[in-house]
Order: sequence, then structure tokens, then C-alpha cells
Amino acid sequence: MKNKNSFSMKEKDIIYFDNAATTFKPKRVIDKINDYYNNYSANSHRGDYDISFKVDDEIDYTRDNVKKFINAKTKNEIIFTKNTTDSLNTIVFGFFKNYLCDGDEVILSSSEHASNILPWLMLSLNKNIKIVFVDSVNEKLCLDDLVKKITDKTRVISIAQITNVSGDKRDIKKICSIAHAKNILVVVDAAQSAPHIKIDVQDLDCDFLAFSAHKMCGPTGVGVLYGKYNLLKNMIPFTYGGGMNLNYNENSLELASIPYRFESGTPNIAGIIGFGETIDYLNEIGIDYIENKVNLLKRYLLKELESIPYIKIYNKDCEGSTVIINIEGILSGDLGLYLNKNKICVRSGKHCAKMGDNKEDTVRISLYFYNTYDEIDKLVKVLKDKKSIYEFIKN
Ligand SMILES: Cc1ncc(COP(=O)(O)O)c(C=O)c1O
Repeated sequence: MKNKNSFSMKEKDIIYFDNAATTFKPKRVIDKINDYYNNYSANSHRGDYDISFKVDDEIDYTRDNVKKFINAKTKNEIIFTKNTTDSLNTIVFGFFKNYLCDGDEVILSSSEHASNILPWLMLSLNKNIKIVFVDSVNEKLCLDDLVKKITDKTRVISIAQITNVSGDKRDIKKICSIAHAKNILVVVDAAQSAPHIKIDVQDLDCDFLAFSAHKMCGPTGVGVLYGKYNLLKNMIPFTYGGGMNLNYNENSLELASIPYRFESGTPNIAGIIGFGETIDYLNEIGIDYIENKVNLLKRYLLKELESIPYIKIYNKDCEGSTVIINIEGILSGDLGLYLNKNKICVRSGKHCAKMGDNKEDTVRISLYFYNTYDEIDKLVKVLKDKKSIYEFIKN
């Protein structure tokens, strides 16, 4: 019998290095989802019968688990969304659309994921606000530039804790302390950090935070929006319908309490229940173990890649789980396809971050704790086979 912590995807004849895009799911998470569909497949917040009560209890369990996982003050600060993108859009259009006034400024870094740039750019089409980009130097955020770009019009800084291309890890605690001293709010895109490092929202003191279950061994279609309760009180629901109201008539709408007012319609019940199990799993492994294991794998990968003279590595100084590379004269897409031919999955292109200081397409190798040294050796072996690479490109 398979171990409940095993990954059936690890038994396939592939090597998976695209973990920054999404991760594998352990058997126990898939079993938990199947258990819902097989044994208590009811809606939430609606039925007066046992299997519906069980659904509510399970969703509540996940909310409490997420609360503990990021050390939120209360579980009412945890809102379930579809993904990080949905969380960031809800924050921008539900909160900042009303909070920002004419002439206000929003600070972003140029290496943010599209999901933390496009909502703000779209808002700036509707509202007279200014988006200000902070520069990176050698793929790392320039904190001095961030401080220089703060003006008396700055109202919010929205920034990834770890970026998805170069893996630049930002000192969010410091950024929050600089920002709060000037009454500036901080939104954290934790899509790439929640899977890898301990997050304590009270210690960071961030105002909003967003992440996705699928990048941390959880199901697709589930995201988290964390917000400080006092700020959530001023957030306006982005979507309207069932589950988010207490009462309404032609003239008025009484909203449900927080967080339910932000979760209209039937949620991704199976996904949320699966995410509760995911967090139990991550807690058992230990986020410190995950961080340490990925660091060791990455150090090994970098050392091996550095021994190949024709490989250009772009982000040696960054702390995240990604290594971005190129081979001169070869399109990153072609290199990705060559690796695919060798059953190795990587990502090539701009990785949804088009405003960064690195405008080149690259191949991104992204690691998670279930990768192995042996898999890295196989990758390095096919990258060392220059003759095969060029033969593949020619054909
Ligand atoms: C830093 C960062 N932000 C946001 C996202 C968007 O995540 P999702 O597609 O789960 O909404 C990603 C996905 O790769 C990401 O890496």
C-alpha cells in the first residue's frame, strides 16, 4: 500500500523542476478531496443536516489551520479566494479602489508577477493614481531606491516577499516598518514565499497578504487573502450573491460578517477541505525543514551549473528556490524543449514578469523539497551534453 505522504507524480518517468508554477499533491491531500466527494458531498452554510454540518466543520478547520500557519490574530482575517491573483484583485478593487484618492501613489517593484502589476495598472486607468516602480540591481530589489521613491503622496507598497523569476527575497518586516512610519499600507504577494518560509503576519506587520494553495502541495482553485481585521471592515465585496448577505430587499443589503461577505457563492469546497489536509502535511514535515532542504538542493544545483562554462546563471545572489539560466545562442524555448525531450520539466520565457530589469527570456529551474540530488545530476548531465543540445536545435 502506498504511503499517505507519497506523491504519485513522483513515480512518473519525469523530473519536475517547475515547482514555482505549481507543485505535486501528496496522496493524503487527494484522498481527503476524494473522501469529500465520496462520503459527504454537500454544500456549505446551507443544509440543516449532518453531511452539510461536516462540510462547514471542515472548512472551519482549514480556516483555523491557515490562521495558525501564518499566525493571523483571528480566523476572521482569512478569506478563501481562487488563487493569489484573485486575492490581489480583491485587495486592489475591493479596498484600494475606495481608499486611494486623486494623485495618490502606489509603489511596486519592477520584478513583480503580472498578478501584482496588472490590477494596479487597471485601477490607474479608472482612477487618477500614479504607479511608481522601484528598481532592482543584479536581480535584487534596491531598498534605497524604494525609500527614495516614497513621497508624501505614497499610500501603498505592493510587493512580493519572494519573486517568481529570480527568487529575490525581500525584507518585508523592514519594508513594513519604513512604510508604517509614514502611514503607508503594505500588500504582500506571498505566492512564492508561503510554500518555502515561515510566515508570521503579526511579526511582519503587513496589512494584506495573498497566496495560493497549489504552489504548496495543495489543490488548485484555492487562494488565501489575509487582511488586518480593521482594514477588512473597510473592504467592499468584489462579488455579490448567495452566502455573502444576511438580508436584502430592493433598497438595502445587509452584508454577512467578515470573512463570509467576501466569499459569495459556493466555494471550492473540495479544494478548501484538501487545503486543510495540506497544511497538516506541511506542518508535519516542517516549514524549516522545507526551507533548509531547498537551500541545500539549490546550492548543489548552482555549484554543478557553475562547472558548465557555457551556462549563464542570472540570479546567483538571490535566496529563492529558482535558478534562471541561458546558453548563449540558444533560445530559452528551445532549451526548454530539449530538456523536455529528456523528460525534464522546466519553464522558459518571461515567467509572467515582464517589467523586470532582466528583459531576456530565460529557462527557470525551480525546486521543491521533494526534488533530489539525483534529479539534479540528471539535469546537469543533459546540460553538459553540448553535442546533443546543438543537434536537437538543428533539427
Ligand atoms: C509571485 C507570484 N505572484 C502571483 C502569482 C499568481 O499565482 P496564481 O496563478 O496562483 O494566482 C504567481 C504565480 O506564479 C507568482 O509566482
